[in-house]
Amino acid sequence: MVFYFSGSGNSYYVANMLSVGLDTPLISMADALKKREMNFDARADGTCGFVFPVHFWGVPYLVTEFINNMQLKTNDDTYVYVVFTCGGDTGNAPKEFEKLLKNIHVKLSAVFSIQQIDIFVPIFKIPDKDKRDKEVLKAKIETENILNHIKAQEKGDFNTNKNKFALLETKLLYPMYSYYRNTSKFRVSDMCTACKKCEKICPLGVIEIIDNKPVWKQKKCTLCFACLHICPAQAINYGKMLFVFDSKNKGRYRNPYAPKGY
Ligand SMILES: Cc1cc2nc3c(=O)[nH]c(=O)nc-3n(C[C@H](O)[C@H](O)[C@H](O)COP(=O)(O)O)c2cc1C
Repeated sequence: MVFYFSGSGNSYYVANMLSVGLDTPLISMADALKKREMNFDARADGTCGFVFPVHFWGVPYLVTEFINNMQLKTNDDTYVYVVFTCGGDTGNAPKEFEKLLKNIHVKLSAVFSIQQIDIFVPIFKIPDKDKRDKEVLKAKIETENILNHIKAQEKGDFNTNKNKFALLETKLLYPMYSYYRNTSKFRVSDMCTACKKCEKICPLGVIEIIDNKPVWKQKKCTLCFACLHICPAQAINYGKMLFVFDSKNKGRYRNPYAPKGY
């Protein structure tokens, strides 16, 4: 089985390719959490994968919630792997994730990562179509390579997007994640057409359309930016961060192979 979480579809793209290549079920962590269907048995499968983005050089809130609340049955020889998608590098997320699994008595066999389009638009601008297409092709080739490692059940650290200051990065940045998950940072312009795409895609079910505008019903979300990137009118913005950075005029992105909603 392959578990995934994805904001703009980058991680979904990788997870779906792995699920097809390994002929194993693809499971949305967001859906499982919503339905409270949290018991899984990977013993017959032989492999068990997790694919999700790096957030603030750490593990996304939703993934932490999922791992902390799941019951996962594995054998001693179940090959458990993680694939991070990231815009730059993974920081200390692999070690943090390993700790989460250890808490539920699951041993990680292999770590992989793939650099893709950085969807953190308060800071980064979405590149032009040419660059985006190249990134998708690169991700396809890298996923095929990862698939071969998994099929051969090769154990080890195959993370190609490391930074030697990983520990420091995560120590400095990850604590800010909790603050920036405040939904009060989202703004909606008059361009909103109340199409409800944001409401449907929100993995935690935090958004509701009230009086023809999205309203974030909880103080914090997981900050995946699915709502912001799916909005056809680009009516949702986020910011400012550190009084300067916001998502205006930075472009929007959805992986071309992402499903219309999750
Ligand atoms: C809130 C947030 C924080 C992010 N933090 C990082 C980060 O610390 N390091 C990094 O390399 N990429 C970071 N990114 C970029 C994503 O990891 C990257 O774009 C990923 O491929 C998105 O995958 P998804 O579409 O499956 O969500 C961040 C993205 C978001 C939305």
